[in-house]
Amino acid sequence: MTTTTDTATAFPLAFTTTPSQAARDQAERDAILASPGFGKHFTDHMVQITWTLDDGWHDAAVVPYGPISLDPAASVLHYAQEIFEGLKAYRHADGSIWTFRPEANGLRLQRSARRLALPELSVVDFLESLRQLIAVDGAWVPSAPETSLYLRPFMYASESFLGVRAAQKVDYRVIASPAGAYFHGGVEPVSIWLSTDYTRAGRGGLGAAKTGGNYAASLLPQAEAYQHGCAQVLFLDSEEGKYLEELGGMNLFLVRHDGTLITPSLRGTILEGITRESVIQLAKDRGHAVEERPVAVDEWRDGVASGEITEVFACGTAAVITPIGELKSPDFSIGDPGRGAGEFTMSLRQELTDIQYGRRPDRHGWLHRLG
Ligand code: PLP
Ligand code: COI
Repeated sequence: MTTTTDTATAFPLAFTTTPSQAARDQAERDAILASPGFGKHFTDHMVQITWTLDDGWHDAAVVPYGPISLDPAASVLHYAQEIFEGLKAYRHADGSIWTFRPEANGLRLQRSARRLALPELSVVDFLESLRQLIAVDGAWVPSAPETSLYLRPFMYASESFLGVRAAQKVDYRVIASPAGAYFHGGVEPVSIWLSTDYTRAGRGGLGAAKTGGNYAASLLPQAEAYQHGCAQVLFLDSEEGKYLEELGGMNLFLVRHDGTLITPSLRGTILEGITRESVIQLAKDRGHAVEERPVAVDEWRDGVASGEITEVFACGTAAVITPIGELKSPDFSIGDPGRGAGEFTMSLRQELTDIQYGRRPDRHGWLHRLG
């Protein structure tokens, strides 16, 4: 397979733009932006770029948002050769539009592509695809507090072929969806369900790739979580069923009474969250120790009982930083959902969102202007 690398493509692909004839007017858009929810509404346009084995990446375009036509034999429909990313565009007080560490998303998309035998899109083209979409749909970036435009780049095998091998035709798209809080209750502590019957990823598997199959695997245990009144499912390692991995769509941190942050290490089975990495940096900047290592679920249980663990939180692009009030399992429950959000969790959340929304200096150079 030939791949496009950053050094090979110093300049981004040239995009064409076809304006939508069905674009919503300002009143329709404002009504949606007033209460966007999460993942329910989409902007008027989308990006598409096609890759073929012979021609590499080509035909970069911004086109009207709409259904995708796929041959019934397209390999993504049979063998799930698909990857995606998730990042947000934030409107700052002066009206400008920014995104957070998009190069890291571009690099993660490349790592996911390698694991799923998909072609790599250069980071230059990845960033350009976001800029091009914002150039036509920038008005969809909301300005109310805690709202953003969620960007969803994705790539899938579109070749019509039922043989099991890496596809020779692939499509990349970017869609965008105005977003409010991911959880219904806003920033209130959530309850988490510990899945003891199911795991998400195994050694050498797809756990570190952002690919649809990982999320498909989480849906049944996630439904179990809902049945038990929990907002998310927590997975343990598949070998011993003892160590914390991550939630269906977020990474996890425990906070010790001395301010030390503890988070499961990256062992190839969990997603290398960009929020996770940013939290580690911000905590270190404040002088906190951070331990990345295997964390047994017993450490959480015993630590909460003894007062050693004082706060637990989840983090990810969609969830930002969300306090976890309670862990429930078939055998035990830990924590008290009525105790309210932890002080450290909320102050980290404030710092991170202040940076993202331009209310505090961006001392690590994490922001990237899109419009
Ligand atoms: N883990 C999973 C399974 C996810 O889906 C996400 C969300 O993208 C994360 C962790 C957090 O990653 P990030 O902080 O890069 O959004
Ligand atoms: C994200 O945070 O970007 C995710 O992909 C999580 C998903 C549950 C929406």
